[in-house]
Amino acid sequence: MRYIQSGLAVLFKPLRVWALPIHLIIEPTTFCPLKCRMCKREKYVDTPSHMSFEGFKKIFDQIKPLRLTLSGLGESLVNSALVDMIRYASKNGASVSTTSSMALAHIPAEQLIMSGLKRLKVSLDAADPETYQDIRGLDLFDRVIGNIRAMATLKRKLNIQLPHLCLQVVIQSKNVSQLSQIVELAHDLRVNAVSFRPVGLAGIEEKRDELTAGLTPDKIICQIKMASDTAKRLGMKTNLNDLLAETSCKSGDISLISPRPPRLRVKISPPSPRPPRLRVRTDCSFPWFSMYITVEGDVKPCCMFSYLDTKFGNLLQEDIHAIWNNEKYQQFRQILRQGKYPDVRCQDCVPEKMLDLAAVFRRVIGQLGH
Ligand SMILES: C[S@@+](CC[C@H](N)C(=O)[O-])C[C@H]1O[C@@H](n2cnc3c(N)ncnc32)[C@H](O)[C@@H]1O
Ligand code: SF4
Ligand code: SF4
Repeated sequence: MRYIQSGLAVLFKPLRVWALPIHLIIEPTTFCPLKCRMCKREKYVDTPSHMSFEGFKKIFDQIKPLRLTLSGLGESLVNSALVDMIRYASKNGASVSTTSSMALAHIPAEQLIMSGLKRLKVSLDAADPETYQDIRGLDLFDRVIGNIRAMATLKRKLNIQLPHLCLQVVIQSKNVSQLSQIVELAHDLRVNAVSFRPVGLAGIEEKRDELTAGLTPDKIICQIKMASDTAKRLGMKTNLNDLLAETSCKSGDISLISPRPPRLRVKISPPSPRPPRLRVRTDCSFPWFSMYITVEGDVKPCCMFSYLDTKFGNLLQEDIHAIWNNEKYQQFRQILRQGKYPDVRCQDCVPEKMLDLAAVFRRVIGQLGH
């Protein structure tokens, strides 16, 4: 029933949304021992903290989301309350996923497996120790591989299908020639899938050269095609074909493959008295069914705003009903409804098309995550 109510909100986009969000992204911590070169954390987190289980429960109980992603600007597994959060949310009807570097074994694999976790995304941006250290700052490749293998082996031993294990790869200059090898590694590790995403530059524009040096559309497309062939040969599930479609049709437009600074896509209409109109996506539906909550309880529209000043309220201090349809939320929805970007960084976001009901439900049910 809540899926249907949220689906209707996504379709009709009212300014006031009756159904509470069915998806939450909650940031469990802003602590992290790694120093990944593409991560915003170091730049934006001054004083790291953990969310307490009590704080988490206070937020969760107000909304009772159907899907919960535990991830943010930190390493999820360093918060020892994470397992309690997963267990509590799962028992209360949420399908829970989290993202981790798996570089440190703060939480034993068995506890994670038994917690009710549905999906574990493991960030692995390299196929060898040198590239791993180059991208992620520490010499932990072998440990990460060992942790993933141990988790996959334990699942088989216990004859348990969940959590679904998925490698997450941020494509950037340092690893673009390793995409195929990463697919092979995923197959060897016997994980369930590999998800690739282009490096996002919002908030770290000064790193554009460092992260995208030498990347050209041809090079990226060629590497994605090779990796896609490898995945097909090995029967490994990936999102490479979707990415290829996205990359080909937006060639020169997504930040990763453009050597130029990001720009708003401006549609120059035939001469007219009106100024050129910004051609913007009108298909962002996040503020109608989803919510991002920082480690301090601040409410944001989505993860892209995690480090920005924009906030709609605080769920550790206020009630959800005082926030979900407040003036700030309604203004934000209004801007999206008018087909504009609420923030210039939205141009870096690649939401899927949300205009038909099937896509809405595919998004809401299957492809949420961080
Ligand atoms: C911020 S991390 C938090 C979870 C955990 N610390 C980890 O690394 O998996 C969430 C995901 O964002 C990815 N990520 C970090 N910086 C990124 C960027 N500039 N563009 C796209 N993804 C990025 C990470 O690789 C990771 O898969
Ligand atoms: S492990 Fe995750 S949070 Fe930590 S620096 Fe890397 S991407 Fe950022
Ligand atoms: S960044 Fe902008 S377009 Fe993307 S999900 Fe957030 S609000 Fe929507």
